[in-house]
Amino acid sequence: MSDNKEWLERELLAAGNAPIAIGFISWALQKCPDLLNVALAREPKAIFLSFGEIRSFAPQIRRPGIPLIAQIQTVAQATAAVNEGAQFIVAQGTEAGGHGGTRSTFPLVPAVVDAVGNIPVIATGGIADGRGLAAALMLGAAGVLCGNAAAEHGQVPGLTLKGIVPKDFFTGMLCCFDGRQRATSQNI
Ligand SMILES: Cc1cc2nc3c(=O)[nH]c(=O)nc-3n(C[C@H](O)[C@H](O)[C@H](O)COP(=O)(O)O)c2cc1C
Repeated sequence: MSDNKEWLERELLAAGNAPIAIGFISWALQKCPDLLNVALAREPKAIFLSFGEIRSFAPQIRRPGIPLIAQIQTVAQATAAVNEGAQFIVAQGTEAGGHGGTRSTFPLVPAVVDAVGNIPVIATGGIADGRGLAAALMLGAAGVLCGNAAAEHGQVPGLTLKGIVPKDFFTGMLCCFDGRQRATSQNI
C-alpha cells in the first residue's frame, strides 16, 4: 500500500499543475482504497475505472467537476456501471491494447449505445485514425479513446513503442511478458 501511495504521489507531483485524469484498475483499487482519496485531493479532470465493479467507489467520486468514466467490455457491465454511477462509458473491444473482453469494438459499441440511453459512450480498441473515429461516431459513439495509437505518436509520457511505422500501425493479439494474450501494436 505505501509503495503504491508513494508512487501515486510522486506521479502527481511530476504532473505539476497540468490538467490530468486519473485511472485505476478497480480490482487493484479494492486492495488499496485509500489511493482514491489521494487522487481526489488532486482534483483531477476525471476518474477512470476499469476491470471491475465501481459500486464501492462511485459515491466517493461523484462530485461536481470530476466525472466518473467506466471502461467496460460487455453490455451487462455497461448497464451495471451506469446504474452504479458512471457518467461516461468507454466500450472496450477485443482489439484494445492490454487485457480486454471477447467482443470486437465495432459490434460492441452500438450494442452499448442502445443499452445506456443518454450516457455518452466512448469507443476504444483498435481505433488509430480519423476513419476509425468516423466509423465509431456513425455507430453512435460520442468519441474515441486511443491507447496504442497515442503511445505510437509519443502522447503517453514515459512510453515509447520503438520501431513501429505509423502508416503500418496494426493492433493484433500477441503473447506478452506475462504469458497471456493481449492486444498490442506491431509492425506488419
Ligand atoms: C500501454 C497501454 C497500457 C494500458 N494500461 C491500461 C491500464 O492500466 N488500465 C486500463 O484500464 N486500460 C489500460 N490500457 C487499455 C486502454 O485503456 C484502452 O482500452 C486501449 O488502449 C484501447 O485500445 P487501443 O490501444 O487499440 O487504442 C492500456 C493500453 C495500452 C496501450
